Amino acid sequence: MRIATLTAALLMTAFAGVASAQSTIKIGYTLPPNSHYGTAGRVFGEEIAKLTNGRYKAEQFPANALGGEREMIESLQLGNLEMVITSSGPVGNFVPEVAITDIPFLFRDTAHARAVLDSPIGQDILARFPAKGLVALGWGEQGFRHLTNNKRPVKQPEDLKGLKIRTMENQVHMTAFRTLGASPTPMAWPEVIGGLQQGTIDGQENPLSVIVSAKLSEVQKHLTLSRHVYSPALILISKRTFDALSADDKKAFQEAGKVAAAAMRKHIDDVEKKGVEDLKAAGFQVVEEVDTAKFQTVLAPAFAEYAKKFGADKIEKIRTYK
Ligand code: PAF
Repeated sequence: MRIATLTAALLMTAFAGVASAQSTIKIGYTLPPNSHYGTAGRVFGEEIAKLTNGRYKAEQFPANALGGEREMIESLQLGNLEMVITSSGPVGNFVPEVAITDIPFLFRDTAHARAVLDSPIGQDILARFPAKGLVALGWGEQGFRHLTNNKRPVKQPEDLKGLKIRTMENQVHMTAFRTLGASPTPMAWPEVIGGLQQGTIDGQENPLSVIVSAKLSEVQKHLTLSRHVYSPALILISKRTFDALSADDKKAFQEAGKVAAAAMRKHIDDVEKKGVEDLKAAGFQVVEEVDTAKFQTVLAPAFAEYAKKFGADKIEKIRTYK
């Protein structure tokens, strides 16, 4: 009897050893494996395996396999999913402080955006996540957003009149497109390609990284390089998952997040170099330049709304950051 009990105890210990030998972390994202999100997910997986001597393994769920970004973030909060790589699009609905980064024409260029997000301004925003059941491992990047549509070349704000433009589920972006005279239609990404094919929406807006990797040339004719807003990305982990890690493993996840975010930015640098040529070759009619000052003038009422919502001083601090 004693021997049987001892054997059972030994077997249980052995099984527990096997079960805890390797934990799998599921990472969901909306874009295909060859995208900037795919790069970040793969690099995160390599790093976390390396830093934890193989105790953690990442399993990738690309291309909307686990639903849209809002849904995946909700799963993180509930503890049903471990990680998501997401645009800032729906994140402001969970962590309102993030939405300031979605203001059009806020950042001068990529270097300015990266500097702000890496500064205490961006890091203070990341510190707001745990109160919402989420931990942000780092700011990634998508690039500056541009406009695509099937109706006409858009060269100036008047050309947007009446166009049904899909926006992210993001109040800041919706306000901007309404002010520009378009008809903003918020929609989760998994529905967008179908919407463009069926004509329920005329256009959408996303950075080159998305327009290329999601093959939007197959469903859109016109591309306007409007650079109307910088699009950050975030590498998020469920707070429930993060809190259950040991102190050393927490450090490993943070470090892997940093390396993955840097790899995402590097991927964007590469796409930005040749994305426009690739899209022309794929059949896009490209409007290379818009009168940015004219867009900004038409957006004046939207800027006044943002100042009320976020505080003019906070916006100015970002705008003038050096
Ligand atoms: O447009 C969006 O919703 C996002 O930019 C996308 C394509 C889901 C990538 O995060």
